[in-house]
Amino acid sequence: MDTRPIGVFDSGLGGLTALRELARLMPQEDLVYFGDTGRVPYGSRSKDTIIRYAQQDVAFLNTFSPKAIVIACGTVSTTALDALRQQCAVPLYGVVEPAARAAAGLTRNGKVGLIGTQATIRSGAYERALSALRPGTQVTARACPLFVPLVENGRFRPGDIVVETVVGEYLEEVKAQGVDTLMLGCTHYPLLREVIGACMGPQVELVDVGAACARWVNAQLAAQDQLAPADRKGSHRYFVSDSTGDFATLASMFLGEDVTGDVEQIDITVY
Ligand code: DGL
Repeated sequence: MDTRPIGVFDSGLGGLTALRELARLMPQEDLVYFGDTGRVPYGSRSKDTIIRYAQQDVAFLNTFSPKAIVIACGTVSTTALDALRQQCAVPLYGVVEPAARAAAGLTRNGKVGLIGTQATIRSGAYERALSALRPGTQVTARACPLFVPLVENGRFRPGDIVVETVVGEYLEEVKAQGVDTLMLGCTHYPLLREVIGACMGPQVELVDVGAACARWVNAQLAAQDQLAPADRKGSHRYFVSDSTGDFATLASMFLGEDVTGDVEQIDITVY
């Protein structure tokens, strides 16, 4: 039994899709979320910058003495995990391994699509994990740089002509390859699930990498007897690096429910 909190972070608010699943699976846990809303997006930045930002995000969450930190960001998980692990004694959970396990288990024809930010696709991390788990898997990868700004601006609903056009263009090649599984390699993308699902067709399984990571973290903590007591009610605290003004409205989109818990703005550059 361990009642220390679980830290969760993302470049922005996309990681709340993972927090939503963590809270559903482990309502007894205290969750501390940091969204680097003042510096989002990370996905178009260099590896060095992503590592530097992520080191500050981890240093901030470490001030809460967490039992685990969840990297609820495809970009940081694919680009900075090794560098972060070298400097952090707290267990760090990224999305790549659990998501690759989910995709490897789902694909029947061995053809997997992958969409993510530019940094994620450049890293090749999902491909490496998949080929280790299921040798011979054919991965068709596509960077989708417009998805994060669209989602952060509330543009993700079916029938939105801009969203439908961008999704159609980005997914054209992945679809043409006949993939039966598509990894939504960025934690912002589950909001586009309906539009992406309609574009790919019902025969294609979609892997939500943040949710896969949340299930993995739950299983790991349970196996190590590190879950908080089941009769406890966990608290949720939110921190952002930009103004908290629109947080409740935007965050409720990602959480699928109203935000409960405090939100505070912090200066991430001091960590
Ligand atoms: N949610 C982040 C990810 O999973 C968004 C990336 C970004 O900030 O560009 O990659």
